[in-house]
Amino acid sequence: MHLLNKLVLFFHVGTVVLAVPFRGELKEREEQLLDTYEYVIVGGGSSGLAVANRLSENPKHTVLVIEAGLVDQHEDNVLLQRYLGGTMGSKYDWNVTTVPQTHLADRVQKLPIGKVFGGSSVLNGMMFDRGSPADYDLWEELGNKGWNFKELLPYFKKSENFTIPSTKQVEEFGITWDPSVHGFDGYINSGFPNFIYPQNKNFQTAMNNMGIPTSKDMGGNALNHYWSPNSIEPTTQTRSYARRYYDLIQPRPNLHAITSRQVTKLLTKETSTGIQVIGVEFAESKEASRKSVIANCEVILAAGAVHTPQILQLSGIGEKALLKRLGLPVLIDLPGVGQNYQDHPFASMKLNLANVEHSPIDLEKNATYDAEMKALFYSSREGPWTAGSPNAVAFLPFSTFSNRSAEFLAAYAAQSPDAYLRPGLDAKVIAGHNAQRKLLLAALSTPKVATMEFIFLSGASRFIQTPLSISLQHSFSRGYIEINSTDPFTAPIIDFRTGSNPVDLDIYVEALKFCRKIVATDAIQILQPTELAPGPLTQTDGDLRTFVENTVSTMFHPSGTASMMKREWGGVVDDRLKVYGTTNLRIVDASIQPLIPATHLQATIYAVAEKAADIIKADQS
Ligand SMILES: Cc1cc2nc3c(=O)[nH]c(=O)nc-3n(C[C@H](O)[C@H](O)[C@H](O)COP(=O)(O)OP(=O)(O)OC[C@H]3O[C@@H](n4cnc5c(N)ncnc54)[C@H](O)[C@@H]3O)c2cc1C
Ligand SMILES: *[C@@H]1O[C@H](CO)[C@@H](O)[C@H](O)[C@H]1NC(C)=O
Ligand SMILES: *[C@@H]1O[C@H](CO)[C@@H](O)[C@H](O)[C@H]1NC(C)=O
Ligand SMILES: *[C@@H]1O[C@H](CO)[C@@H](O)[C@H](O)[C@H]1NC(C)=O
Ligand SMILES: *[C@@H]1O[C@H](CO)[C@@H](O)[C@H](O)[C@H]1NC(C)=O
Ligand SMILES: *[C@@H]1O[C@H](CO)[C@@H](O)[C@H](O)[C@H]1NC(C)=O
Repeated sequence: MHLLNKLVLFFHVGTVVLAVPFRGELKEREEQLLDTYEYVIVGGGSSGLAVANRLSENPKHTVLVIEAGLVDQHEDNVLLQRYLGGTMGSKYDWNVTTVPQTHLADRVQKLPIGKVFGGSSVLNGMMFDRGSPADYDLWEELGNKGWNFKELLPYFKKSENFTIPSTKQVEEFGITWDPSVHGFDGYINSGFPNFIYPQNKNFQTAMNNMGIPTSKDMGGNALNHYWSPNSIEPTTQTRSYARRYYDLIQPRPNLHAITSRQVTKLLTKETSTGIQVIGVEFAESKEASRKSVIANCEVILAAGAVHTPQILQLSGIGEKALLKRLGLPVLIDLPGVGQNYQDHPFASMKLNLANVEHSPIDLEKNATYDAEMKALFYSSREGPWTAGSPNAVAFLPFSTFSNRSAEFLAAYAAQSPDAYLRPGLDAKVIAGHNAQRKLLLAALSTPKVATMEFIFLSGASRFIQTPLSISLQHSFSRGYIEINSTDPFTAPIIDFRTGSNPVDLDIYVEALKFCRKIVATDAIQILQPTELAPGPLTQTDGDLRTFVENTVSTMFHPSGTASMMKREWGGVVDDRLKVYGTTNLRIVDASIQPLIPATHLQATIYAVAEKAADIIKADQS
């Protein structure tokens, strides 16, 4: 009854102002919105804007995007590689932190995630790559029909507009590509920046001389050494990001978006076939009055892997015990909500390279040089101002970087499935984790899936003066997201639980030792490296492990917290991305990835969103 009153009031307000012409632009006030939309999308980030674009292709479908953050103003730190990383901690960042990480010397970790139209695609490091085919096939092996590389490839291509490397880059760096795995008319531009620091070639040579080949194209074979494209617009050499999915189709009168509005909960009603989401409630701030809007057809969660589980839990969809503890109604007992949190933890070897002509830090240190390079950029879009995101990477199967891979995989295999999981987890979630473990153990013992990423960063972001970084691609540790308050404006608890499975951290020790082997190659020695950290005094495995505990951070790839898996395995959505127990609620963001793929995530996010849009369209007709 209470709810009904509120809605009627809103309808009334809405009717009064319906005379406002709709031009498909961003709405600034609730009064400019329609009372009802076919589709309401929660979160105008990477996945949300892609899905909004596709669903509004049909002019009969009205679509509303509700985004908590602001709209960027095309600031330099958003658009230019020169200032890559500059939006972290800004007004476009949710600024959330973890609880102290028990297995990482009790350190609290910052987790930058986008609170802005375009979401994390506004903040991200612009690497644009994919996982290996076997990485996606694991999703299907977990029971998700149609979720394999072959069936995702058309969507990777659909989202992408690839610019082939220049003749100069082909000659200088030997970059090759396979046109059959790329798209050439999608919304997100990918390609190589006009300037690549020459020392990136040394990394490739080092890899090749160690017997690690260069992949012809990561697009179909993201293994071993490869040249990673960036999400960069070729003409302006600026960031290509999710906003293009919105900006490029304006005006489209049936697509509306409102920003600076946070969805506070889903409005639901019970039907004989399950919980129907009739709309969403939202507010401009904690103090502001709650508004609501009705969805005739579906509500689509695209709030990212941290906030999608928060919204579900606030709405009474989650683990029963948690909801009861907070005094929330239990609409759907779904213990997997917020669990299965995965990321790519990140560590670095700090090196001083005495013999490189230039690296990005020079732009910071020498104002004259920076001014010259700025002038070059604005006159011809050339030079170091176009560079920042890494291009030289290696995604290595376990046995490629460690002779002890079988030993470590055996150590994982010997663990009982729940040995290092959060205590008190629901048996369904443990069963799902066990299924993941079995598949991962088989995959990681083959050369088809990478265990570790090695990134060469000299010539990459000025923020990272650590030329050689490493990142575990398939942690066995699992974290969680959990509300601790019924106030939607209180951030949920974020616990990565990085390193809770001790073998994960042992693998970092192996990877650091392999970094030293890379550094010892002639191709890197020519750059005159000095190891600053872990440093020459850190030689034993124990010392290296302590270094790992004291330094590991995150690569900002939160995922898995509303996984696409069987319900009896703690899954939250089925393979049509529909939330179990609901008739019309879908999730399309990073939360649905049941196993994080070995890659940076954005290209996968766009591909999944493109596929999600087709699924939603197909289910409506
Ligand atoms: C600093 C950083 C660097 C990265 N570097 C790379 C990289 O180099 N390459 C790469 O491939 N990937 C990178 N990533 C990861 C990649 O950008 C993300 O995985 C991807 O953008 C996530 O997409 P999403 O749609 O799941 O979430 P997002 O794009 O984060 O979108 C979620 C949106 O929902 C909004 N929202 C949340 N809650 C609410 C609510 N209650 N109401 C309304 N709106 C809400 C948010 O404000 C946000 O706009 C990086 C990420 C970060 C943060
Ligand atoms: C994050 O912190 C920055 C700097 O302190 C601030 O400007 C910004 O508004 C904060 N963002 C949010 C979403 O609170
Ligand atoms: C793809 O990118 C090229 C180069 O910028 C551009 O000319 C072309 O119009 C783009 N295609 C689409 C469909 O955006
Ligand atoms: C700074 O850059 C200018 C212009 O490139 C160069 O001439 C000068 O030698 C540089 N200064 C230092 C200290 O490297
Ligand atoms: C494995 O051992 C062999 C023989 O000792 C050695 O040559 C090789 O470099 C080692 N490989 C790795 C990845 O450590
Ligand atoms: C959870 O909420 C309780 C009660 O408000 C508070 O004491 C506790 O510190 C919170 N925990 C975290 C991790 O924020």
